[in-house]
Amino acid sequence: MSNKFYITTPIYYVNDRPHIGHAYCTIVADVVARAHRLMGDEVFFLTGLDEHGQKVQQAAQAKGVAPQQFCDEMAPHWRELWPRLSVSNDDFIRTTEPRHKAVVQSLLQKLYDAGEIYSGEYEGWYSARAEQFLTEKEMGPDGKFPAEYGEVVRLTEKNYFFKMSKYQDWLIGYIRDNPGFVHPDYRANELLGFLQKPLADLCISRPKTRLTWGIPLPFDPDHVTYVWFDALTNYVTAAGYGTPRFGQVWPADVHLIGKEILMFHACYWPIMLQACGIPLPRQVAAHGWWTRDGQKMSKSVGNVVDPVAVVDAWGADALRYYLLRELPVGSDGDWSDANFARRYNGELANDLGNLLNRALSMIKRYCQGVVPAPGPAEPLDDELKATALDTAKRFPDRVAKLEVNQLLGDIWELVRRGNQYVDAAAPWALAKDPAKAARLGTVLYNLAETCRIIGILLAPFMPSSADKIRAQLGVASAPAALADAQKWGALSSGGPLGEVTPLFPRRDK
Ligand code: MSP
Repeated sequence: MSNKFYITTPIYYVNDRPHIGHAYCTIVADVVARAHRLMGDEVFFLTGLDEHGQKVQQAAQAKGVAPQQFCDEMAPHWRELWPRLSVSNDDFIRTTEPRHKAVVQSLLQKLYDAGEIYSGEYEGWYSARAEQFLTEKEMGPDGKFPAEYGEVVRLTEKNYFFKMSKYQDWLIGYIRDNPGFVHPDYRANELLGFLQKPLADLCISRPKTRLTWGIPLPFDPDHVTYVWFDALTNYVTAAGYGTPRFGQVWPADVHLIGKEILMFHACYWPIMLQACGIPLPRQVAAHGWWTRDGQKMSKSVGNVVDPVAVVDAWGADALRYYLLRELPVGSDGDWSDANFARRYNGELANDLGNLLNRALSMIKRYCQGVVPAPGPAEPLDDELKATALDTAKRFPDRVAKLEVNQLLGDIWELVRRGNQYVDAAAPWALAKDPAKAARLGTVLYNLAETCRIIGILLAPFMPSSADKIRAQLGVASAPAALADAQKWGALSSGGPLGEVTPLFPRRDK
């Protein structure tokens, strides 16, 4: 029986240019989505764009175009990026789509009718130049706001508030009672620490006099809704809220996000859902941030890593490998071009590329390119077999715990064992002695079988390289399935190999 699995990425601000941080989040989600498909689950994988709000309105104004036109011009940069990174999302949501506006308005109306939204006065420091309220955080030690904000005045405006504060105790209890709801654990503790301070009701409206680019409140057309209320709702819109499909897709199994937006996802969002009577997502998982050579990436420093440039230079699989291999989900990472090249040459070209190439070239040379039949196993063979089967067996648990970095480490351990096996079994020596022909067949079979299993386990991480491994082994006709990696001896003897070419040509010359 297949399980359903629904995973999301944040929806990215449409006015940004995609960089490596966005690519990281989406690729991790893709690896998890593909791993679940490999296990036979019915996966729904969502990503998309956050298109409303002040910044988009300002960016459109600066370009002298209407906000919708601006979004329509920017959206393809994102939509077209994902296939280039081999990202297999099932849907791509834009918050300006009619399907989304309808859901946002229906949730707002529902909360309003239930008395969960009330109108009140918002008072704060307002900068007309920045067209926004400022908080104490922006205030300098002298009690003044930086000059770039121009004149800052005390302003009171009518707004709508969502009764979030009354859910505070419930949320604290929920997080405590549901270990794993927030991942990693230390983030749950951080959140609980934050929740010791009283939670204020959430201002969920902006007057149209200040911000026009948003979804109008259904009960007061002079206001649009706050961009985070709008944005978070995307996860239920895309799951078909209000249609029969919703019951099959929702709740989300994992909302994968960056650590800085955990509050929105593990505090505002669960409360919004609870107030609407919608089940909560199973998990909110926060990953870390990437720096480059130890520095924060920023446009002004000019050190932003462009994922397209990396893919053009090294290929999507190498990028995916590097991002996943560097750090566990949750930790921060540091991008370095030298480290990237080192991993490519050392781990992809040498470890993996050589294993496949040595195994298949020897089958070409010594067995006329046909997979030999294995004979009786020796302890060396049993060890290799046990490592391969263990890795495949651990796979589901690793994926369930989002230990995709560790899983890739397990697979690399198998690759290294495979290379050690070649060195220990020395097939080139066996080939010189006709009395050892049967042993040679066993060794080469075991190597090919190891490569077959690796070609399945790597499919979520490096989909096109995994396909190539399987094509070179002559077993690419059936789609990869985890169950086939959990069997030793499934490779048929007598089958011809495909064309043997280097998987990752070395790049250090
Ligand atoms: N639009 C909101 C999310 C709304 S979700 C309902 C938003 N967008 S964003 O484009 O600014 O950021 C999206 C994601 O990119 C965040 O999860 C963030 O953590 C991630 N990253 C942006 N820069 C990053 C790095 N340098 N490193 C890793 N991820 C980072 O927030």
